[in-house]
Amino acid sequence: MTESGAAGSTAPPSPQLFAPADQGLVGRVSVPGDKSISHRALLLGAVNEGPVLVRGFLPSADTLATMRAVQALGVQVERSQPGDLLVRGAGWEGLREPDDVIDVANAGTLIRLLPGILASLPFFTVLTGDASIRSRPMARIVGPLREMGAEVLGRDASTKAPLAIRGGGLIGKEHVLSVASAQVKSCLLLAGLRAEGDTTVVEPGPSRDHTERLLRQGGAAVTRDGPLAGPGTVRISPLPSLQLDEVAVPGDMSSAAFILVAALLVPGSRVTVTGVGLNPTRAGLLHVLQAMGADLTVRSTGPPEEGESLGEITAATSELHGVEVGPDSVPLLIDELPIWALAAAGAQGTSRLRGAAELRVKESDRLSAIADLLRVLGVPVTEHADGLDIQGMPGRWEGGGMVTSRGDHRLAMTGAVAGLASARGVTVDDPACVDVSFPGFAATIDSLRA
Ligand code: S3P
Repeated sequence: MTESGAAGSTAPPSPQLFAPADQGLVGRVSVPGDKSISHRALLLGAVNEGPVLVRGFLPSADTLATMRAVQALGVQVERSQPGDLLVRGAGWEGLREPDDVIDVANAGTLIRLLPGILASLPFFTVLTGDASIRSRPMARIVGPLREMGAEVLGRDASTKAPLAIRGGGLIGKEHVLSVASAQVKSCLLLAGLRAEGDTTVVEPGPSRDHTERLLRQGGAAVTRDGPLAGPGTVRISPLPSLQLDEVAVPGDMSSAAFILVAALLVPGSRVTVTGVGLNPTRAGLLHVLQAMGADLTVRSTGPPEEGESLGEITAATSELHGVEVGPDSVPLLIDELPIWALAAAGAQGTSRLRGAAELRVKESDRLSAIADLLRVLGVPVTEHADGLDIQGMPGRWEGGGMVTSRGDHRLAMTGAVAGLASARGVTVDDPACVDVSFPGFAATIDSLRA
C-alpha cells in the first residue's frame, strides 16, 4: 500500500529508525483511549436523544474521521476539556442528509458501523475511504442490510466501497454470520434499533461486545445466549430513542499490547500500563502470553457499574515458549496478532497460528505483512492460508533493516518494537500511520527508555 490515507497526508512518508534498547524499558505509562469504544461513543452519541459526555476519547486519525462523519449528518461535537467530547445527540429524527460524500479515511469500524445507522434513515449517503478501505470486503454488511430493507449499492458488484445507501423501513431478521465480526454484528444491531420486530445475530465465535454494552447502557434490550468462548446469538429489540448520558472510554488494550510485548522482549524491563480496558472479549492476548510463560500481572482497578472494566497490567522480561493459537481464541486477540507474532518470534520453539484468515482483509494482508517483517529480522516463518508457523529465536535478532508497514498502523508499531528488541535496530518506512490508533506512540516508548 503506497497511500498513507491513514494519516490523511499526501507528503511522502519519512522513515524512522527504532534503535535497539540498550537498557531495559522501565516505568508506568497510560495509553490513549480505546479506538473501538471511541468510534461507538460518537456513533451512538449521534443518534442519542440529547447530549452525551465522552470521557477519555481517543483523538486519532480513525476516530476523527468518525467525528467528521457525524458532523456531516448534522450533529454538533464540542471538545470540552482535554480528553473529553460533548456529542450533542440529534436523535434519529434530527439527522440530515450529508451534502457530500463521507470519507472514512482508513477507518474500517466507521465504514462498517455507520451503514447500520443510515439503513433506516430516508436519505442518500455515499461512503468512501482510502485505498485500503476500498479493497476491503463490504458484502458482509451490504447483503444483511438489504435483507432488512435498506437500499445499499457498492463498487465491484456491491462488495467494495464506495458504498451508496438510501435507508428505509427495516424489518428485523435473523442473520447467521460466517465469520466472527464485531463490526458486522454492531452494524446489524444498530439497524435493529429501528427495525420492525427483533433482530438476531448468530456469531460463530465471540467478538468484542462494546456495542451491546453501550446499547444496554442507553436503555436497549440486548441479550446474548451462548458461552464467551463459543458461538452465540445476540438479540436486540427496537428502541425508539437511545438515552445515554456519559461514556467513559478506557485505555486501549490493543495499544497497551505493544508496550507489554516490548517489556517482555527487551532484557531488564519492567513496565506497568495503567487504565487499560479489560473487557474479556479483548483480553485474549494476555491469556496467550501467560500460556507462553510471560511474567504478566493484571490488577483490576474496579469495573464500573455498567460499561467496561478497567485495570493495570505489569509486564517484565520473560523467557517465552511457543504456543498454539487456534480459531476459538483468534477473535479475542484479532488486532493483537501482529505483536503476538513478534512475541512468538522471541520464544523458544515453534508457535502456530490457525483460523486467522480474517487477517488477510484487515488494514493490510496482515499474514503476509507479518511474515515479511519476521523475515527481515531473520526469523523463519511459514505462511498458511489461515495462519503462520513461527520458529522462535530467543535473544536479540541479528537481522534488521527496513520494515514495510504497508500503511498499516499495527504493522508499523510491531516493526518499532522489533527494533527495540533487535541487535541492529529496525527502520519503519511509514511511522506516521500509527496515528490511526496510537498518537504519541514513539514518545511513550521513549519515556520508558530512560
Ligand atoms: C473492530 C472489530 C474488529 C477489529 C477492528 C475493530 C470494532 O474487526 O479487527 O480493528 O471496533 O468493532 P472485525 O469485527 O471485523 O473482526
